[in-house]
Amino acid sequence: MNSVIVINGTPHEIAIADTRRSLLDHLRTDAGLHGPKKGCDQGACGACTVLLDGRRVLACLTLAAQADGRAVTTVEGVGRDGELHPLQEAFIAHDGFQCGYCTPGQVCSAIGMADEVARGVPSRVSSEIGAASFDLSSDEIRERMSGNLCRCGAYNGIVAAIEETYVGGPR
Ligand code: FES
Ligand code: FES
Repeated sequence: MNSVIVINGTPHEIAIADTRRSLLDHLRTDAGLHGPKKGCDQGACGACTVLLDGRRVLACLTLAAQADGRAVTTVEGVGRDGELHPLQEAFIAHDGFQCGYCTPGQVCSAIGMADEVARGVPSRVSSEIGAASFDLSSDEIRERMSGNLCRCGAYNGIVAAIEETYVGGPR
């Protein structure tokens, strides 16, 4: 089948030879975008996280065919006009990465996470289910980002970067 996916704002028409092909393989191999990383390839590490119509998904567990006609944003597309996204700037300022392998997934996941908080989606540690909004505490950040693993142990820098971007300063 032929697939038209809007990737980082640009429509890409790419033939999907196998309808079981993952979005991750489609992005990395067919579209040549190597920002989304293949860590576990089975939904356990979060390294492949991208935004699908603005919501975070694991690209290794998403079929490329599911993205047909939809918008995908990878880490290559989160900045604007040649500038890094504020969260990317904060990752640099707070040493939010070491080897950086997990960073594209962390950045996309945090952007999607902030949108979930704004939409009132609760997490396991949210004190009030059904609240219109949430205080994005460090507990909330850690719980909501727990699907993204970092082997290099940069967790504190990652949380600090997210706090600076979405809370107003590290606490
Ligand atoms: S590569 Fe997708 S979750 Fe690990
Ligand atoms: S910075 Fe190396 S895996 Fe996270």
